Formats: sequence, structure tokens, C-alpha cells
Amino acid sequence: MSDPTSERKIQHIRIIEEDAETDRRKQYFDTIHLTHRALPELDLADVDPSTTFLGKPLRFPLLISSMTGGTHEVTRQVNRNLAEAAERMGVAMGVGSQRVMFTHPDARASFAVREWAPSALLFANLGAVQFNYGFDLTHAQEAVDVVGADALFLHLNPLQEAIQPEGDTNYGGLAARIQAIAAGLTVPVMLKEVGAGVSRADAEQMLAAGIGYIDVAGSGGLSWSRIENHRRSQHDDDALGLLFQDWGIPTPVALRMLAPYRDRVTLIASGGLRTGVDMVKSMILGASLCGLASPFLRPAMESAERVMEVIERLEREFRTAMFLMGMRTVSDLFGNEDLIIEG
Ligand SMILES: Cc1cc2nc3c(=O)[nH]c(=O)nc-3n(C[C@H](O)[C@H](O)[C@H](O)COP(=O)(O)O)c2cc1C
Repeated sequence: MSDPTSERKIQHIRIIEEDAETDRRKQYFDTIHLTHRALPELDLADVDPSTTFLGKPLRFPLLISSMTGGTHEVTRQVNRNLAEAAERMGVAMGVGSQRVMFTHPDARASFAVREWAPSALLFANLGAVQFNYGFDLTHAQEAVDVVGADALFLHLNPLQEAIQPEGDTNYGGLAARIQAIAAGLTVPVMLKEVGAGVSRADAEQMLAAGIGYIDVAGSGGLSWSRIENHRRSQHDDDALGLLFQDWGIPTPVALRMLAPYRDRVTLIASGGLRTGVDMVKSMILGASLCGLASPFLRPAMESAERVMEVIERLEREFRTAMFLMGMRTVSDLFGNEDLIIEG
């Protein structure tokens, strides 16, 4: 059966593979310099990067961010490889938007990753804007149940929808609908962007809607505006998506902007994080969990082992940075901006 949503996801993956500049590689974290300790007074072997999130233990604060799922075999295999790797390495994982499973029940199996990750921290995913297009609490609960998820990510992607030829652009009155979903769901609702960031005004609205978890998913990494521009050019020869390819709030800037809310909301960092050092910087800027998406796509198309190699590299980098700052535990990092050298 022809399935436009799954076709679109496959197109996205092809565009990301063929156009390296869809990853903007802005390296915004590189402008942040950390305090090196010549005398860390610590054995590297004693550095403990473990943490917990939603009561579940994590080997270190890594999230494989929401990517895919659908009726295509490749998306099912990607999710299985990611889930197996997350389980074996003790990190968190999100599935991609589950909207497709409501029109194509054969897509459900690709999201049923609890089978491959019985104890891992897992997140379901829907586009928040769908609650303005007929979705309600029953859809949200079903998305959570199919995954066996510990929480539901609702993604906010107004830029992507605005560039997408067939985009859903009615964002009017959405905060109230999100509030109703959050109040009725059996697990926490977490809001995320997809690469353009979350502002202070957004955080105010989210808090008022009863949301306790925000993934800033800022700019600097994967650009959905650029990706959709490729698809747009099939319909139109303008370059709206290129004009907006670097639009948004850089991830470290978004984390800093939301610092005043840290005591009321748990922050997740994602968008352009590429190393364990970027993760350490994110924790220092107040994040409790650090997400990477596009760096996992190619490895996940190969095997769980390739995904595990990326996770192992990130953990090595994370531990090394902690050691070089004389920080033994992750709680020593959290919000500890004294570790940043200004100037
Ligand atoms: C292939 C692919 C598909 C994605 N699909 C979704 C999605 O369905 N839902 C979502 O919330 N984010 C989705 N994202 C966005 C990521 O979760 C993340 O916010 C974004 O890619 C920025 O992180 P990065 O720079 O590390 O890639 C997707 C990313 C990729 C690479």
C-alpha cells in the first residue's frame, strides 16, 4: 500500500545521506572554553559518568534522539539496531514520529522497540501540531503504549512545516491542547524542537501548560529547513528553505536562555552536539540529558554494533573531559558555570 508519510521519511534519509550540508556543523559549543585542571586530584578510573533520568539508571547522560519508524523495512531495522544498542550500553532512545501508525497499522511494529530494549529508557514521539489536526489523548496514549515508553516527546517543528510543501502550519491555540494531553497521559510529556531551539517565551508557555521537560533541540546541527528545501524544489523553484537553513537559537544559547527555569523544568540538550565534550558543556549549562540524532543514522542503517561504537566513543570523550576538569560525578557538572572560562 502506498504510504506518503513513510515515503517522506525515506526521502528525508536519502537527502541527509546525499547532502552533507544538511548537518550545518556550526560547532557553536566550540566558543565555550572549560577550565582545565593540571592537578585534577583524581584517578581517571574513578570518574563516574552515570546518572538517572525518570528514575532509570543511565551509563552516562546520552539520548539517541527521535528519528524514525514506518512501513519500510529500513526504518524498522534502524529502530531495532538503535534499541539493541541502547539496551546493551545503558543509554536512552527515542523513536521518530508515530503519526504514520494511525493511518498504516503495519507501521506499528517498527515502533515496538521495548521488545529489543526491555529495560532501557524509551521515548515515544508525535508532532504536537497534530492535536490541531484531529489527534487527541487516545492517539497520544496509544503512541506511548505501542513503544512501552517512559515518556512522550511532542515535537514542535513550525519551521519545517512552513517549508514543507504539504506542511501542517496551524499552530494557533496549541499550548492549551498540549496542556490537556499532559494532564491526561499516564507518562510525562516532554516538548522538543527539531533543530531551531526553544525561547524563554516558549518556556513560559510550556510551564503554564504543566510541562516539566524541555528538549531545546537548537540550531547548529541538522537543518530541517534545508532538507525540506530539497523536497520543495520538486514543486517550486524558490529557495525559502535555504534562506532559513540556519534559522533558530543555537543550542548553547538556548540552554543559557532557559537557565532561570532550571529549578522548575528539566532541560535536555540536543541539536548539533557531536562529541562527549559538547555533552559535558551541555550539562554545565544545565541539561540533565544530551541528545544526538543524525550522527547515529548511518551506523544504525548498518548494525547495533556500529551504533555501540559511536556510543563508546562519546562515553570516552565525556569521561576524559570530566577527568581533565577534576569532576568525579555528573552532579558536579550540573549547572556548574564556574567551570566555563569567560572571555
Ligand atoms: C532521519 C531523522 C529523522 C528525524 N525525525 C524526527 C521525528 O520524527 N521526530 C522528532 O521529534 N525529531 C526528529 N528528528 C530530529 C532529531 O530528533 C533532532 O532534534 C535533530 O536532528 C537535531 O539533532 P542533531 O543535530 O543531533 O541531528 C529527526 C532527525 C533525523 C536525523
